[in-house]
Amino acid sequence: MNRMRPKSIAVFNSNDIYPISADSVVPFEQHRDIFYLSGADQEETILLLFPDAMDKKHREILFVRETNEHIAIWEGEKLTKEKATEVSGIRTIYWLKEFDKVFFDLMTEADTIYFNTNEHYRQAVETRTREDRFILACQQKFPAHQVAKSNPILQEIRGIKEPEELELMQMACNITEKGFRRLLGFVKPGVYEYEIEAELLHEFVRNRSKGFAYPPIIASGNNANVLHYLENNKACMDGDMLLMDVAAEYANYSSDLTRTIPVNGRFTKRQKDVYNAVLRVKNEATKMLVPGTLWAEYHKECGKLMTSELLGLGLLDKADVQNENPEWPAYKKYFMHGTSHHIGLNTHDYGALKTPMKANMVFTVEPGIYIPDEKMGIRLEDDVVIQEKGEPFNLMRNIPIEVEEIEELMNA
Ligand code: GLY
Ligand code: MN
Ligand code: MN
Repeated sequence: MNRMRPKSIAVFNSNDIYPISADSVVPFEQHRDIFYLSGADQEETILLLFPDAMDKKHREILFVRETNEHIAIWEGEKLTKEKATEVSGIRTIYWLKEFDKVFFDLMTEADTIYFNTNEHYRQAVETRTREDRFILACQQKFPAHQVAKSNPILQEIRGIKEPEELELMQMACNITEKGFRRLLGFVKPGVYEYEIEAELLHEFVRNRSKGFAYPPIIASGNNANVLHYLENNKACMDGDMLLMDVAAEYANYSSDLTRTIPVNGRFTKRQKDVYNAVLRVKNEATKMLVPGTLWAEYHKECGKLMTSELLGLGLLDKADVQNENPEWPAYKKYFMHGTSHHIGLNTHDYGALKTPMKANMVFTVEPGIYIPDEKMGIRLEDDVVIQEKGEPFNLMRNIPIEVEEIEELMNA
């Protein structure tokens, strides 16, 4: 609200409940912005902010679906006005049916309306969301108002995590750790990738997670070279490695982990060499995540680290590097994705990318080497918090990653 223009209103809508067909629906996931700003995790909720409202009680308003006994019997309790105040800290709660009237009245006092458009750098939305429909209707009804964007403000404030958020993210990582440790005693030749998925889900849900923070990638052997492998339907073979990009959500916060382990509990010499090369890149990359680092520069440095490891492994030679195309450097043949992304309420979270990094931003670090010719793909991924001073704090510091520890636990 401090950053809004004078005489302006900002509105934030919930996500829709998406239909499957007949009367079935996809489980509800709240839009992360209204959740971040209000804590309201219920469909059809609207948050309205109007810092200069003439009537003080209209500076913050939460509109919620009217609840009644019939709804309570079929769907369980929805937010009452009292409960809505309790979760959000907002004193003025109205039923949703009052929105049009209240909004019209407040818009007569306002000059500017803030719309919450999706400006995430990877967005690719074809659906017309509830927010989109609100924006369209609003533009028709109030063509004389100025418009402004909420999204850059949210990207900035959501990118820097509050202590309460870091605590929840640590919880998510701790649940992920339990899942991973459970697997180390479970994976063996012949096991199917979906059996591993089931073990993880069991461990996540029994620890009060809703489940996976994103669709799990459980990729044995050459499946690891399909970066977005989601089938998870093959048997794990003796001698292969298994790449698992799997992590729990907790309280709507994501964690994001990747580990690569030997199916039979022992790395071969070659597997170990490639694994340790990835691990060294990860450790060196992590050290660069400090206040002031620029995302684009960081990725260039990571490319240099990787190039030197690939030379060491004999996957590139000096000529490959000397003749490389600066737009697509030689290392990209074996490491074709980014090293880091913001993480938080979204797995690929909001956050500034073109300005220097700041303390309490949370990033993944996830280098990989993918060699289809050798039937292996290795990625290692942790989530780390940038500190005011010194190296980042690793939220996954307790999740086994060294070759020796993985082998020991798999053979215990
Ligand atoms: N699991 C998605 C990612 O690593 O970015
Ligand atoms: Mn991941
Ligand atoms: Mn990631």
